[in-house]
Amino acid sequence: MFIVVGVTGGIAAYKSVQLVRLLVQAGHDVHVVPTPDSLRFIGLTTWEAISRNPVTTSVHDDVAQVRHVALGQSADLVIVAPATANTLAAMAAGLASDLLGTTLLATTAPVVVAPAMHTEMWRHPATTANVATLRERGVVVVGPADGPLTGGDSGPGRLSEPEDIVAAALAAVSGGPLDGLHVAVSTGGTREPLDPVRFLGNRSSGRQGAEVALDAARRGATVTLVAASVDAGVLDGVAAHPRVTIVNVETAAQLGEAMGTAAASADVVVMVAAVADYRAASVSESKLRKEDGPLDSIALVPNDDILAGLAAARRPGQTVVGFAAETADDDLLERARRKRERKGADLLVVNEVGWDTGFGAGGNTIAVIGADGAVVAEATGSKAVVARAVWDAITAVRGIR
Ligand code: CTP
Repeated sequence: MFIVVGVTGGIAAYKSVQLVRLLVQAGHDVHVVPTPDSLRFIGLTTWEAISRNPVTTSVHDDVAQVRHVALGQSADLVIVAPATANTLAAMAAGLASDLLGTTLLATTAPVVVAPAMHTEMWRHPATTANVATLRERGVVVVGPADGPLTGGDSGPGRLSEPEDIVAAALAAVSGGPLDGLHVAVSTGGTREPLDPVRFLGNRSSGRQGAEVALDAARRGATVTLVAASVDAGVLDGVAAHPRVTIVNVETAAQLGEAMGTAAASADVVVMVAAVADYRAASVSESKLRKEDGPLDSIALVPNDDILAGLAAARRPGQTVVGFAAETADDDLLERARRKRERKGADLLVVNEVGWDTGFGAGGNTIAVIGADGAVVAEATGSKAVVARAVWDAITAVRGIR
């Protein structure tokens, strides 16, 4: 592919060197268009060496080739990374004050921007409005990620990782086998409040659900990821994917409502979240204190079984998938079979958990139980490997190649 990479004047420009490298290594013909300001961070020589193509920055260079429009016309894909607040504003306004501006106006190729700036600038209403304008025009916005920023502060504004930008950019130009499918995935562990500062929770990291969502998006699906409590950074990769929308929730009731809404238009529903089976019968409005007297017990009431509810309300053609975390014993598969039937899911992915395995750990061992109770897939490996096996099983059930 002929890919134009616009680089604008932010310190994160150094990360785009790796972005260009990845694209070149993947065999693409990459043309870097730095803004004049960005050359204070990374110089022309670096871009020419890494991209293996001549690099210019002014509309007055290479005029005989009408370079200021030729690049945009030739492009199959334009990536702007990092995209500063200033560049997003210029793009929204359609300004053509430099070679990147003219290239962006001259192109009909998909445009992917990866913003990077301080959190205050990202959250400013002007930037929010500019990003909304660009999205409306079909521009794909990747990130920004949440994390440490150059000033020592932390928050949303970090440039997404080069690998994530590449994946999102390539997804923007090519569909996949799940193109046109809407998928709803839940992840993380619910938190059931006891009082304003305490909750009943579990050790789910949210990693497996994030991988399930990401794999679906990579296969071309549009994904709604309903995320309860997850470990720090777990959603960064999946949040950067343009086909993924994240809905944050806390309690089982909120998760049930968000999944119900998403499932109304979903073709596939995957419940990976560790949902609390019980919540406190009453939630104290003020903090529970020792001086109020000893607390001998907490009265609990059962939460609705969300998976069973979604399966019972299944739309024609919809596939409902559950996950079951089971501690290892001889009866593991048999219990999983009964659980699939009881909940009415089309597929149940059973994974072995213990004090050291399953939750939060890097790897997983799973079996997928199908409608007749047979094991239709098995996998051992990273959570990404498991996610792929789960989607292979789902696509097989749905007859998708
Ligand atoms: N689940 C759900 N709603 C609940 C509890 C669980 O939707 N209130 C879903 C989970 O997201 C998962 C599946 O049900 O997809 C299996 O969860 P698990 O906790 O193993 O099932 P339980 O019904 O709680 O069975 P157990 O008695 O073994 O805990």
